[in-house]
Amino acid sequence: MSDSTIQHNEDSRDVTFRVHRFNPQVDSKPYFDDYTIRLEKGITVLRALNYIKEHVDASLTFRAFCQAGICGSCAMRVNNMSKLACTTQVWDELDKCREPGIIKVEPLRNLPLIKDLVVEMDPLVEKMKGYSNWVDSKMPEENWGRKEFPVSEAEFLKYDKATDCILCASCVSECTILRANKQYVSPAVLLKSYRMNVDSRDSMHEQRLAGLVKDHGVWDCTHCYRCQESCVKHIPIMDAIHGIREEAIAERGVKDTSGARHAEAFMEDIGKKGKLVEATLPIRTNGVVWTMKNLLPMAFKMVLKRRTPPPPPLVKSTKDIEKFRAEFREMSGHVAKDHAKKSGE
Ligand code: SF4
Ligand code: SF4
Ligand code: FES
Repeated sequence: MSDSTIQHNEDSRDVTFRVHRFNPQVDSKPYFDDYTIRLEKGITVLRALNYIKEHVDASLTFRAFCQAGICGSCAMRVNNMSKLACTTQVWDELDKCREPGIIKVEPLRNLPLIKDLVVEMDPLVEKMKGYSNWVDSKMPEENWGRKEFPVSEAEFLKYDKATDCILCASCVSECTILRANKQYVSPAVLLKSYRMNVDSRDSMHEQRLAGLVKDHGVWDCTHCYRCQESCVKHIPIMDAIHGIREEAIAERGVKDTSGARHAEAFMEDIGKKGKLVEATLPIRTNGVVWTMKNLLPMAFKMVLKRRTPPPPPLVKSTKDIEKFRAEFREMSGHVAKDHAKKSGE
């Protein structure tokens, strides 16, 4: 048992919060302040921060409102994972500290920093607007407020989970693609888009889907599952992302976008050889002209460094390829069945 585990079995103890600080009016770069306070078991990270603000350092800035895991405004990174400060127990975090007894508190990532632990939410709101994240009613305007627009229970179950989203942006903060490309649609927007697209009262399905398959859209997701792991409401975000992709292929065809073509080429290689034929993947995904224009300089560099992928005839199938193909066919069959089942629901 580690020292920290032994200590935090006590009902009260000293805990240090290493808090990210940055005031753009006076600081040239961010830094951390350590606050050590005596706490009792059962205290949340938000209550500890409130205590620090009231009794130790009034300049500490963070955002919070409901204190009950409902409004999403207290999302921040605690011990390197985005979560809600108001539902996070200090005693639970003591197990996760990299340095015993020191809880690290930082602002969400992938959104612009305003001050200390507060980030700007506008970029996320703008993306939601850009991807039409609302239901545009099919009902004629003259009937609004006069007639009901009923939804069956079966239909509601399709987006029931997605409606739990409180827009805290924890998933946005943990998204690996957003770290590299801030224009990426983001997991929260994909979840909302899916929720709107499966709503039978909505009239913008096609327009929304057309936006989602463009550059920086649904095909850029790398399936790392980090967003789902960090979702504070345990929403299966990946189901929504898969749902949009399946819908895009079913309604727009595999030739529609480079993302869909990439997925198709990827599956073809794995099905045939059990590995990727990397040399031709860019051509099959983006075509000869795009590949020549965009990848030729890199190809020259790779030739000079002798790091080119082998030409297709030299890509040998993986060991036990027949067994692998049988398993791959079985797995693809299961996925197709699941998809057919979901579409029939
Ligand atoms: S699975 Fe996709 S959306 Fe989720 S964190 Fe990874 S890249 Fe981002
Ligand atoms: S999907 Fe989950 S983590 Fe992402 S904004 Fe909604 S509630 Fe927060
Ligand atoms: S303060 Fe509202 S969710 Fe934490």
